[in-house]
Amino acid sequence: MTGTLDIFADMPLDVVIMAAGKGTRMKSKLPKVLHQLAGRALLQHVVDTAAALSARQVTVITGHGATEVEASLASNTRARGQFDLNFVRQEPQLGTGHAVQQTVPVLRDDGVVVVLSGDVPLTQPDTLQQLIAASAGTKLALLTIDFADPTGYGRIVREGDTVKAIVEQKDATPEQRRITEVYSGIMAVPAVRLKQWLARLDNKNAQAEYYLTDIVKFAVADGVPVVAHKTSDAVQVAGVNSPVQLAELERAYQKRIAHQLMEQGVRLADPARLDVRGSLQCGQDVSIDVNCVFEGQVTLGEDVKVGANCVIRNASIAAGAVIHPFTHIEGGAPGSKDAIEVGAGALIGPFARLRPGAKLGAEVHIGNFVEVKNSTLAKGAKANHLAYLGDATVGERVNYGAGSITANYDGANKHRTVIEADVHIGSNCVLIAPLTIGAGGTVGGGSTIAKDTPPLALTVARARQTSIPNWKRPSKQK
Ligand code: UD1
Ligand code: CA
Repeated sequence: MTGTLDIFADMPLDVVIMAAGKGTRMKSKLPKVLHQLAGRALLQHVVDTAAALSARQVTVITGHGATEVEASLASNTRARGQFDLNFVRQEPQLGTGHAVQQTVPVLRDDGVVVVLSGDVPLTQPDTLQQLIAASAGTKLALLTIDFADPTGYGRIVREGDTVKAIVEQKDATPEQRRITEVYSGIMAVPAVRLKQWLARLDNKNAQAEYYLTDIVKFAVADGVPVVAHKTSDAVQVAGVNSPVQLAELERAYQKRIAHQLMEQGVRLADPARLDVRGSLQCGQDVSIDVNCVFEGQVTLGEDVKVGANCVIRNASIAAGAVIHPFTHIEGGAPGSKDAIEVGAGALIGPFARLRPGAKLGAEVHIGNFVEVKNSTLAKGAKANHLAYLGDATVGERVNYGAGSITANYDGANKHRTVIEADVHIGSNCVLIAPLTIGAGGTVGGGSTIAKDTPPLALTVARARQTSIPNWKRPSKQK
């Protein structure tokens, strides 16, 4: 919280999010506010912003796709516990004023209300804090912006400096249509006032809708000051109405993240070709080549290098590790046993696949077309080519040959393979779990191993090679 807010610290913040609209121009079966931006639903961004503002209560107005929208938020644990989450339904949708009217029964009287839209995802908390400060617990504060082309927006009508009204495009006179200052759709208003004004709305206008924006007139009539807090950042007030706008905002968001990373010292080969769909923490001297996608929670330690075209989800990659191009790292839930760990100085890829529960120690090498799932590899273990390690515990310095696999699944249950330290597994071996390969042992190439092997032994399990001398090939019968 900034210092400016402290004077109103005793005034709780209640957020109202309008999300009942249809979103026809998305041309999608999915309700508009559930479309994803940077890996989170549009509405989730707005809810997370409310959380960042320490809102006491968040009330979401739903209508089109209400069941789906409510289920998606309620099931999201991040939305739980931080504030009191309510849903109110607006059916049918008779305008923004009518939408907010539905919240009156759940709105408390002692708060300041911030009205947001579920399809405006990138408003920054500090902008809203400034708006709340401008409302000062008594005034009606509007977030406004100057647009060279204000077509379609509600215009801010002033007399001198004083805001007198918001006039919608369809109700505006030609002169009013020339006003370039528009209402963003975001306001902060004391709850008691809001309730009084909502009760006075009518739909006598060009669209026969109940306009929330008409409360400005009532504030003026009641002698309540109306303040316009102007932003110059169009991204923060931009709504998503179409796939084109969604993609534009996605890029704007990614650009913002890329710049934050570069300011911390991360070297991005091209900030326009990075996608962070979650959180990415980087140590000093990290470099990331083009077209990498980071999902969930990813941590890259000091000096980590990520090659081009990697997809990395829920992983912690320690200092000095190198992730070569086209590597896919897909960890499970952050903090769970399924999250992925890559040790210091490890070399992964190109074309490697790390699945949930891969825990790789320092200096482990995982090469091309190697898949690792739910397995622990100790320091210095190597699987350099074309291999599968599932449900395995691999000791230090083990060398796991090309084409070898753990047969970890018997069709009903998964079993563990233990490969002790300093073992060499030849090429093309099948290790049928449950199984332990004793320390320092060697398994000959092409072996199918179904029983434990003793330490330090060479174990070979394949048909002995025979040669029949002077072999005559069959010839065609006449
Ligand atoms: C509204 C403002 C306009 C402002 C613009 C900014 C009004 C009357 N006008 O315009 O001054 O410049 O936003 O984008 O408020 N919604 C509901 N129920 C409804 C109608 C809308 O939940 O009955 C939701 C929509 O889903 C959307 C938000 O409210 O999230 C805004 O609705 P939209 O139709 O985009 O507002 P406009 O009338 O274009
Ligand atoms: Ca709109």
